[in-house]
Amino acid sequence: MFFPEYRGRRLRRNHNLRRMVRETHLRVDDLIYPMFSAFGERIKKEIPSMPGIYQQSIDNIVAEAQEVHALGIPAVILFGIPECKDPLGQDAYDDEGIIQRTVRAIKEAVPELTVITDVCMCEYTDHGHCGVIREGDVDNDETLKLLAAEALSHARAGADIVAPSDMMDGRVAAIREILDANGFSDIPVMSYAVKYASAYYGPFRDAADSTPQFGDRRSYQMDPANRIEAFREAALDVQECADFLMVKPALAYLDIIRDIKDRFDLPLVCYNVSGEYSMIKAAAEKGWIDEDRVVMETLVGMKRAGADLIITYHAKQAAKLLGA
Ligand code: PBG
Ligand code: ZN
Repeated sequence: MFFPEYRGRRLRRNHNLRRMVRETHLRVDDLIYPMFSAFGERIKKEIPSMPGIYQQSIDNIVAEAQEVHALGIPAVILFGIPECKDPLGQDAYDDEGIIQRTVRAIKEAVPELTVITDVCMCEYTDHGHCGVIREGDVDNDETLKLLAAEALSHARAGADIVAPSDMMDGRVAAIREILDANGFSDIPVMSYAVKYASAYYGPFRDAADSTPQFGDRRSYQMDPANRIEAFREAALDVQECADFLMVKPALAYLDIIRDIKDRFDLPLVCYNVSGEYSMIKAAAEKGWIDEDRVVMETLVGMKRAGADLIITYHAKQAAKLLGA
């Protein structure tokens, strides 16, 4: 008679045994919460495609930052929606711009909370592209100057970490150089090193009003079919002195997260992007899935794939579940 000698079920019999042999742990320390800062006062406008996520004026952002800190989440990443957009995205590198004022307000109210700023032009340009347009395409080297100015301005406002998300060539070096030259050699660069041209960013572009007015981002963001190219992108950013690497999106790119984790020794961040969030929220609203369990399973899957840190709109919910 067939008799299994090794029985895997022996270690799954009860909660304590499962705890003892668990290989991956999601911790509140791993979470980074994204927030959208908008012009005005007492503004809290829910993003229709992202239930529970808001465009907020600085007063409300500060209140939420306090809540995030009280939940034990170590960091937020900020996106700005300026009052006016123009071809050169001037609000992005204005010391009185929306992000600069938001950073100062958060750092004053909750100094212990780590503030990361997204460094990109698309939220600030009227055409919605991540850089300067010359002859119908984004001009890489002209854009570098603006990104460097933007990062410096964020650092001056008190940002703890700057996170370039534009995918221009050479931006990490350009940002490192200007920060070092201005006394900010202690400010780390969290590089969106491996960022794919993804349809999963759809809801974010509603949130940040940053949909390109013509064309798409495929001339600078990566082709979702490519893996080897991710190694080249990450290697260049390491060379340019990035302090963190990021893979984005996360869910359809768990293999890339694992590959980058195995090949590079920098702390690895993954971005659980807007479309990934919205899919879970929509299915949960319909009663088709158990939201809490799907959220935790998704996040632990990203950690198991090799992410050290996860930028996620689920951060507050996950922190509550972890604390419960
Ligand atoms: C800006 C930026 C984007 C995201 C983060 N920074 C959008 C884009 O590149 O179009 C996406 C975040 C998300 O979908 O949650 N470059
Ligand atoms: Zn952009």
